[in-house]
Amino acid sequence: MIVKRIGVLTSGGDAPGMNAAIRAVVRAGIDLGLEVYAIHNGYLGLYEGDFERMYRKSVSEKLRLGGTFIGTARLPEFSDPKVREVAIENLKHYDIDALVCLGGDGTYHGAQALYEMGIPTIGVPCTIDNDLAGTEFTIGFDTALNTAVDCVDKLRDTSTSHHRCSIVEVMGRNCGDLAIWTAIAVGAEFVICKETGFDMEDLIDNINRAAETKNHAIIIVAEHMVDVNMLAKEVSERTPFDARASILGHIQRGGKPTARDRVLASQMGVKAVEALVDGEGGVCVCIDKSKIVTKPFTEVFGENEMLIKDKYKVFKRLW
Ligand code: F6P
Repeated sequence: MIVKRIGVLTSGGDAPGMNAAIRAVVRAGIDLGLEVYAIHNGYLGLYEGDFERMYRKSVSEKLRLGGTFIGTARLPEFSDPKVREVAIENLKHYDIDALVCLGGDGTYHGAQALYEMGIPTIGVPCTIDNDLAGTEFTIGFDTALNTAVDCVDKLRDTSTSHHRCSIVEVMGRNCGDLAIWTAIAVGAEFVICKETGFDMEDLIDNINRAAETKNHAIIIVAEHMVDVNMLAKEVSERTPFDARASILGHIQRGGKPTARDRVLASQMGVKAVEALVDGEGGVCVCIDKSKIVTKPFTEVFGENEMLIKDKYKVFKRLW
């Protein structure tokens, strides 16, 4: 099939660098002689027919902005084939031949399902969670990591002054990458995530050991692992430190993308359009050994567990 008109959408949780990726898709598409349409609010806009023609100027001044200027949504109903049939009718109505889908795991499942119904789709990995196997990095992870590190550095200032233990919860859905990278970057005393497991006695021993030489401690916790307020109570009772819990939350999803995320988003956006023009579909863009490549969606579902475990070994060696 010769691709003449493409759509681009952002779906699921937003990630810093999504705007840079949209810009790359729009500009590369126009450069390759295509018409490009933005689909507002992810698969919801695909279902509702909320499309807008994009021009070079439509993406001016977007490169450095956080969030996604075309909007995003979570639409669990998209797993229903009837909902997808309506979406495909809308694509046909606009003569859109192919789709670039920016997002994470949920977005990729939607894109794979559309591909199985005959629509060439390409995924671009945009999520702060870095939880897609097959790509070493997702767009947004570097910015979220820097935000988390900045926040923990600030917390360390006050926990040092007050001789406290700061317990900090970071995002990541079910993946511990953001937690481990943050723990290494801030020199934390302990990290808790799915990949490392969690043993309360080990934690208490480590924090008591830290108390022998330091007047403060930092514990990084991946979300969904423990109740950080309960943990603060236990640490306060069983170690010399008075502990305080902080949940960083959605602040990690905001802010202007780092240079690294902007460059990755630009490289991946261009690759997505080139791949569509070359007749690919049912694949996603990945960075693998520093090369920008495409891989079938089916190869990237799941997490980079080995990479996370390797980083944990580094963390343990430094403690
Ligand atoms: O996938 C990105 C993410 O921020 C996860 O880290 C987190 O678990 C989830 O989205 C939060 O989702 P929501 O913004 O819908 O509350």
